[in-house]
Amino acid sequence: MLAELSPALIAEVERAAKLLASKQRICVLTGAGISAESGIPTFRDKQTGLWENYAAEDLATPEAFARDPKLVWSWYQWRRQLVADKKPNPAHDALAQWQQHAAKSGQRLTLITQNVDDLHEQAGSRVTHLHGNLWQNRCSQCNTPYDNGSGMEENSKRDVSFNEDLLTCQHCGDYIRPDIVWFGEALPVEAWRAAEDAAANCEAFISIGTSSLVYPAAGLAQLAKQNGAKIIEINPHPTPNTIVDITLAEKAGVVMPLLIQKILGRVEHS
Ligand code: OAD
Repeated sequence: MLAELSPALIAEVERAAKLLASKQRICVLTGAGISAESGIPTFRDKQTGLWENYAAEDLATPEAFARDPKLVWSWYQWRRQLVADKKPNPAHDALAQWQQHAAKSGQRLTLITQNVDDLHEQAGSRVTHLHGNLWQNRCSQCNTPYDNGSGMEENSKRDVSFNEDLLTCQHCGDYIRPDIVWFGEALPVEAWRAAEDAAANCEAFISIGTSSLVYPAAGLAQLAKQNGAKIIEINPHPTPNTIVDITLAEKAGVVMPLLIQKILGRVEHS
């Protein structure tokens, strides 16, 4: 693995590890890129990105659902099927390992994701979801969480059927929709409050696998920077973001295990 990395990149990983090991409050924001090596398509990568092949305004807005609920529901059922068997990759695993270690060493590591998959949880992380959860549904009218009547935890993944028939709310009879934040909708209040708090109060902010184009999530790095944090970006195609202090231009699944190994080595010896 190390042989794949250039000496310049290894030096940057070392610099990032040194910085991160010296900080107590760290905020990590992940995007679709961290799940790419697990086989889940991103949104904006050329050719493979979902928004390269589908129109977001037809599938991921409240207006689209009002216009054609069946089309939107079918698309999300297809995405669920696509994601159902996907497993965490070494980047998710490394973050979970760091989070577990941080709990003991006194570092405060807050993990925030824009992703609607549950690969961070599968890896063992505690994570705040800014854009909802692919495995949950709610009423499009009264917002009541959808209860599939199984008596099991609400819409746990194993209960989801990929049937494309529309479901209706047990309370008001309106259509059930995925519990995902669509374009033009507000983020979940508690999740956003926690994210803003972590970004504004961190000493280092790490942005992993996101194009940093979708606000308000994209503004968290700026908020951190304004409050004095150092910014690290991990992305094989770095964004043209001028606030970044250290760029690790490599796939997250390749660089994260090395970065975390170096951080934990330093924390243990400090
Ligand atoms: P994007 O698809 O916009 O960006 C993915 C980023 O990941 C790109 O910058 C890629 O270069 C990078 N990338 C690709 N493979 C990678 C790898 N192996 N390791 C690290 N980085 C890699 O995805 P997001 O920024 O997450 O919203 O998109 C933000 C939001 O837009 C999503 O949450 C979604 C979408 O519309 C909702 O669903 C509400």
